[in-house]
Amino acid sequence: MTTRIKLCNLDELPEPGSKSVTLGEQACFLVRHGKGVALYQNRCPHLGIELNWQEDVFLDHEEMFIQCATHGALFIMETGECVAGPCLGEALTSIPCTIEEDGIYA
Ligand code: FES
Repeated sequence: MTTRIKLCNLDELPEPGSKSVTLGEQACFLVRHGKGVALYQNRCPHLGIELNWQEDVFLDHEEMFIQCATHGALFIMETGECVAGPCLGEALTSIPCTIEEDGIYA
């Protein structure tokens, strides 16, 4: 049996939107895109630093992409792939998560 970890309630994550969460000791974040949700480690593939400066703010102004606050690099919400910036072609580390009636689980 696998242990599921509840990350947050569904209403804590706006659509579109993003939210910081921790998984064990690991800093991560959730993004909501349409009906889907993705969970990523909060670590840029090229420098290994966290992507955000402000709590829960991981998206660009248009809320179309995940954005590195330091370099402006853009990542696709659904896949974590970098499409602009210094880590072009690399991807965020994604962690499986599921949406259930009462929240989002890893
Ligand atoms: S740390 Fe890699 S794009 Fe900013």
